[in-house]
Amino acid sequence: MSLRDLLNGLPIPILQAPMVGASLDALAVAVSEAGGMGSLAAGALSPEEIGRAVAGMKARTGAPFGVNLLMAPRAEPAAAELDAALARLAPWYQALGAPLPEAPNSFAVDFEAQLAAVTEAAPAVASFTFAILTGEQVEALHRAGVLVVGTATTVAEARAWAEVGADGICAQGFEAGGHRGHFLAEAEASLVGTMALVATIRAAVDLPVIAAGGIMDGRGVAAALALGAAAVQMGTAFLLSDEATTSAPWRRALAGAGDDPTRLTRAFTGRHARGVENRFMRQMHGVQDDVPAYPVQNRLTQPLRAAAAKAGDPEMLSLWAGQGVRLAAAGPAADMVRRWWAEAGEAAAEVAARTGRGTDG
Ligand SMILES: Cc1cc2nc3c(=O)[nH]c(=O)nc-3n(C[C@H](O)[C@H](O)[C@H](O)COP(=O)(O)O)c2cc1C
Repeated sequence: MSLRDLLNGLPIPILQAPMVGASLDALAVAVSEAGGMGSLAAGALSPEEIGRAVAGMKARTGAPFGVNLLMAPRAEPAAAELDAALARLAPWYQALGAPLPEAPNSFAVDFEAQLAAVTEAAPAVASFTFAILTGEQVEALHRAGVLVVGTATTVAEARAWAEVGADGICAQGFEAGGHRGHFLAEAEASLVGTMALVATIRAAVDLPVIAAGGIMDGRGVAAALALGAAAVQMGTAFLLSDEATTSAPWRRALAGAGDDPTRLTRAFTGRHARGVENRFMRQMHGVQDDVPAYPVQNRLTQPLRAAAAKAGDPEMLSLWAGQGVRLAAAGPAADMVRRWWAEAGEAAAEVAARTGRGTDG
């Protein structure tokens, strides 16, 4: 089956964005069962955990779902770089009364091993961000019956994914919450809004485009489909759902976010990501270009963020969220998916009436 057929066959073309730190199998299964398509955020899972989670999900739903991996580069930072990065973080650890971690010798789960586990577990779809697979890796997934979606933040990245044989493109606009998926140009040169990105990728590449970034309700869903997206991928809109694993202080910060609360920062992980601005982001802003690149800084701040979550302190926690966060609401994920789809129908009817194409004139 082609990805286009799979997406066209979904009762509701709403995909739940995989979100490391905020979503696991429960959210993905709930969305797939509701008629959309969920995705397991497997970026931080070991190969064994991936195998177990996918087997468990297949036992719970016959509907298609995706598995997502973060393509972290292998990191071997010099000892002096690690020492400097830890010294910069020391006051933050101290403020929380948490011990400064020892310099670790591993920074992320081995990507090749994760990829082998995904290929073996064979979900309907596998999606990737931060880098690009080789043609051989895509072929191996295809041989296992897995459709491949590549994240692109520019037209050039979409073309690159098409060249290695991907089945579809997740077009990530700069409104999106969480990490930027850019991999060809630098972050600042990869900040295209969802509307322009979906339209230009669709014109450049003959593959189904999944629109991501700033889509928060049925109006956003209808708008993306009108632009020619085959489906939408929503992340921030699910962060307050019952099934999301979003921590309590993070949930409070999202629910209480004011107008225009998000910023891009490199300070937490060494890769640009969008979240609700807090004290850590503000105070680290001036040195964010000095911190080690992902995944090193990500690993060095993990214990800090875990301690902050435990202490209920939102000021030292990564509060990832997209520009539409003000529209996020709580509730069961299945209800959200069904409500957004009904709203999308209403929005489309309003537009049809406005353009003189409504059935009742
Ligand atoms: C908390 C959070 C975590 C995320 N983690 C991942 C991830 O693990 N893999 C991935 O491909 N995208 C990840 N994203 C990005 C989403 O796939 C998607 O691009 C984004 O959520 C869309 O924008 P929106 O948040 O405005 O809906 C994450 C987004 C958020 C908000």
